[in-house]
Amino acid sequence: MPRPQAPPATGAATAVAHPNIALIKYWGKRDEELVLPRTDSLSMTLGIFPTTTTVTLAPGAGHDTVTLNGHSAQGEALRRVTTFLDLIRRQSGRSEHAVVDTVNTVPTGAGLASSASGFAALATAGAAAYQLDLDATHLSRLARRGSGSASRSVFGGFALWHAGTGTLTQADLGSYAEPVPAAAGLDPALVIAVVNAGAKAVSSRAAMRRTLDTSPLYEAWAASSAGDLTQIRAALLAGDLDTVGEIAERNALGMHATMLAARPAVRYLSPATVTVLDRVLRLRQDGISAHATMDAGPNVKVLCHAADADQVADALRGAVGPGAVHIARPGPGAHLLPAAT
Ligand code: DP6
Repeated sequence: MPRPQAPPATGAATAVAHPNIALIKYWGKRDEELVLPRTDSLSMTLGIFPTTTTVTLAPGAGHDTVTLNGHSAQGEALRRVTTFLDLIRRQSGRSEHAVVDTVNTVPTGAGLASSASGFAALATAGAAAYQLDLDATHLSRLARRGSGSASRSVFGGFALWHAGTGTLTQADLGSYAEPVPAAAGLDPALVIAVVNAGAKAVSSRAAMRRTLDTSPLYEAWAASSAGDLTQIRAALLAGDLDTVGEIAERNALGMHATMLAARPAVRYLSPATVTVLDRVLRLRQDGISAHATMDAGPNVKVLCHAADADQVADALRGAVGPGAVHIARPGPGAHLLPAAT
């Protein structure tokens, strides 16, 4: 895999990464510390809402300083970043603390997970700042440790994240994302309908743990997800977006069914979600290929042909309001920005 760009010699680096939306979901960890998933997953990286992160080494500083959208990070957000920097420091054999400055362009509370773009950008900028010379595969493995889905944002377009097999050590080595080939004629868009911009009641981390520990449906979903993955790869290669959407929708609904069966239930979908799902069904009845997927929240992402995206967006605006719909095309993988001169 190519390197995102040669690491700079200055001890400072800036990287950009975009969010991704899973078409085959990651839900459940085999190992929490190593962030090893139970199942393979597959996503599309978006061309909107980039995260830009600068990591600057601070020799002599007694701690890391983290700024998120201009505000000093505290608590859990700060802990996750410093734990991740500790991992980079261990791997690079260096001990300096760092100043991390992150700007997320996802509209505040848009309900799109920013941990994927956030940790992909942090891994890319952090590895460069600490002079850790990693190719894209190794960057993906590193980003995974910050947030599982971040492993996929290292790559643009469609990406498959391998769960890894064998012992924990072997799985750690084998769990990374890689680009997935798709037919040249495939021209997809994801139309995002934000039905609720509020913070979620249960973090995805806690919710996936509870699902794995208590849902009697989990193993059935995991087994069917493996079949979904094989079939969606074939559909991507064949350029069959209708089938890609069908598989993505059933995989997401299966994941949510699994959560609903957890004890106590994890329910992210709201009445407004179901209203949007009804619109999607109506679009299909009108002959438009449109399929929905939902993550750890009530918002809906609709996969369709780029040529139909405006029409799909109009239909969704009717359900959630004019300001709450965004159209995304496939976007690039994480990359370093040239150092300022
Ligand atoms: C529902 O990657 O946010 O969006 O690894 O605990 O940080 P952690 O979880 P995270 O989970 C994403 C879950 C999902 C499905 C997906 O993106 O595959």
